[in-house]
Amino acid sequence: MEYNIHMERISAYAKINLTLSVTGKRSDGYHDLESVMHSISLHDVIYVSRTGSKEITVESDVALPENNTIYRAAKLYLERVGCGVHIKVNKKIPSEAGLGGASADAAAVLTVLQRMYKAYSKDELFKLGKQIGADVPFCMMGGCCLAQGIGEILTPQKCVPLNLLVVKGKEGVSTPKLFSKIKLPLKCANTENFLEAVNERNVGEIARELYNALESEAVNEVPKIAEYKQRLIEQGALGAVMTGSGSAVFGIFESCEKAEEAKKAFSDACFAEVCKTVCK
Ligand code: C5P
Repeated sequence: MEYNIHMERISAYAKINLTLSVTGKRSDGYHDLESVMHSISLHDVIYVSRTGSKEITVESDVALPENNTIYRAAKLYLERVGCGVHIKVNKKIPSEAGLGGASADAAAVLTVLQRMYKAYSKDELFKLGKQIGADVPFCMMGGCCLAQGIGEILTPQKCVPLNLLVVKGKEGVSTPKLFSKIKLPLKCANTENFLEAVNERNVGEIARELYNALESEAVNEVPKIAEYKQRLIEQGALGAVMTGSGSAVFGIFESCEKAEEAKKAFSDACFAEVCKTVCK
């Protein structure tokens, strides 16, 4: 295949849910959420190059499902452009973790294609993102946001610098399966108070008030989630919680050094990484 020498590179940042409340079930099968989300430094790297053909090809260092979000995002975007691209991805974000890896990749592909072709308005681009997945609009926005609706109604917030240790065991959680198991009503976070803590950059209060309504159901599926959460606290985390639909759990630490020290207690985990929240 003939490639254009010009190649675009983009980082696709993972997300964490500092709070996640499920406020209702919709007739389309999705759930209404209220979640304070933050981008983190853990990221995949995506390379996009134009090709001579109209074909879209995806190359990854980790096996991806055939109809993966990278391919779907490129196909959707390029319908209006009529060109082909070759996309290469270096995956670092684990899958079935609740870290939004697949959404981050789709968001990065849409963003980079927009940089290359400018074929859509900003609104249209966000709509394309929502068609791929509920978390894609947030991943396109980045930073810290209050997410409502199915996750696509976004209110940007002040970024909070947080030192994190993210851990995940071998077993993942399937998002649709988990959502199909929950029984409403579930306890909700006090989002207003939480946003105040975010606005004041009150790390102690943020760590104390971390909350995920999906966590107890996810623990029934994957008990390791509770074990890792407990261990993060024992290792000095100010607070710890599962992110998204799991199975990754993160702890907030006073410093990067303390997070690195705590990481030593997770040699049995298939993923343990010290990272930071990132701003847009
Ligand atoms: O949009 P996404 O593909 O990320 O969602 C995966 C699945 O998770 C949906 O098909 C749905 O079952 C569930 N989900 C939900 N409510 C949301 C987000 C996801 O029920 N707000």
